[in-house]
Amino acid sequence: MKVLVIGSGGREHAVAWKLAQSDKVTRVLVAPGNGGTAGEAKCVNVPVPGGDPAAGETQEALADLARQEGVDLTVVGPEAPLAAGIVDRFRAAGLRILGPGKNAARLEASKGFAKSFMEKYGVRAARSKTFTDPAAALEYTTEHFAQDNPPPLVVKADGLAAGKGVIIVLSRGEAEDALDAFMRKGTLGEAGRTVVLEDHLAGREVSILAAVSSVPGNAGGTILPFVSARDHKRRFEGGRGPNTGGMGAIAPAPDFTAALREDFRSSILEPTLRGIKQEGMDYRGFIFFGLMVREDRCFLLEYNVRLGDPEAQAVLPLLESDLGDLCLSILDGSLGDFSLKWRPGAVCAPVVVAGGYPDSYRKGDPITINREDLAKTGARLFIAGAAGSDGGGLFTAGGRVLAVSAWGADGDAAQARAYEAVKALRFNGMAFRRDIGRE
Ligand code: AMP
Ligand code: GLY
Repeated sequence: MKVLVIGSGGREHAVAWKLAQSDKVTRVLVAPGNGGTAGEAKCVNVPVPGGDPAAGETQEALADLARQEGVDLTVVGPEAPLAAGIVDRFRAAGLRILGPGKNAARLEASKGFAKSFMEKYGVRAARSKTFTDPAAALEYTTEHFAQDNPPPLVVKADGLAAGKGVIIVLSRGEAEDALDAFMRKGTLGEAGRTVVLEDHLAGREVSILAAVSSVPGNAGGTILPFVSARDHKRRFEGGRGPNTGGMGAIAPAPDFTAALREDFRSSILEPTLRGIKQEGMDYRGFIFFGLMVREDRCFLLEYNVRLGDPEAQAVLPLLESDLGDLCLSILDGSLGDFSLKWRPGAVCAPVVVAGGYPDSYRKGDPITINREDLAKTGARLFIAGAAGSDGGGLFTAGGRVLAVSAWGADGDAAQARAYEAVKALRFNGMAFRRDIGRE
């Protein structure tokens, strides 16, 4: 079986690596891939015609490529091509692809849509309201902050905003500034013209990645959750500093108990599946639940319609089942009979970033890897922002350079190995958080 993976990050490296482990998979094309996927067994990078997989003509060109290359199965990493309808295009061309159709991709691409879906199907979530009129939004914040002890408000741009669309505000004044920026000044373009105002929930964040298979007209429909994970979004230790695309992940999340998993299943997963079915969504792919856990209850903060990054770099190495088989069972509707097998223990995956990230950062620095020391830890590198050099080495080409993914018998052992492995790496300006899995 020949597979095509679309994307260029660490998540796509992890997906390509895991697919390549399958005996059934003969070749993995990665479009465009990165310096890590270029060197992975069975993998080959292919350019994305035109560069932007969210552009319609590029999606047509990728479908042509899949047909010419005899690709049996396509997996899409990032959200933008999914939101732009790549799954519908590939299916119309008779190609097998994992992901939601454009309609179901709104669960991530429109927070307003996602919130009304949660409300309609009784998915437990924070109280919120969606606004297209800035004056009405401001009036809501005035009333909110006039309550006794109001919680902070979370101002969320409706559309995709690459992590820049969420601002937590503590007062009416701060809310006004955020609403002005998003709704009147259009700092995020169309993505911010509609906003969701949501009560802030304090608690601990947990990510649940899952496989989903629901086809309109078929009675069945399944969401199969993976082991839990935790991303660490802030740049600095202890959860301080600016938001980033993720500074590292641990799987399982150490405090996600069996009781919480059961609460998640009944209050969030099952109503979500009911909604997907009743809305008639064709959704055969992956779904991500971003949870906030308060005491013994889970609340849904967001859906993503894909695997998480960097969660995938921690979760996929724990998956013992064949990812190729899993993908096929998602597509053919037999996911309900699939039994996922997990390796015991934990994986810790700190992300190593370029100096300056998430603001402007250095690029083009050569990365030195002591392969012998790295091998002793058993850790694996999932490359994100690094490209291959002519001499066979790697140099930095993005802010989030790579994830070091290490297994251990428990979370502490995994962390110890991951940080031992980080010592085998060196580049100018290299930075990372030392508390992944401990925050
Ligand atoms: P979202 O894209 O909706 O998940 O928001 C991005 C991040 O903002 C989340 O990962 C949380 O850290 C934070 N966040 C979003 N909504 C809330 C909320 N209601 N309460 C607390 N934090 C939130
Ligand atoms: N780690 C969350 C995401 O992939 O957006």
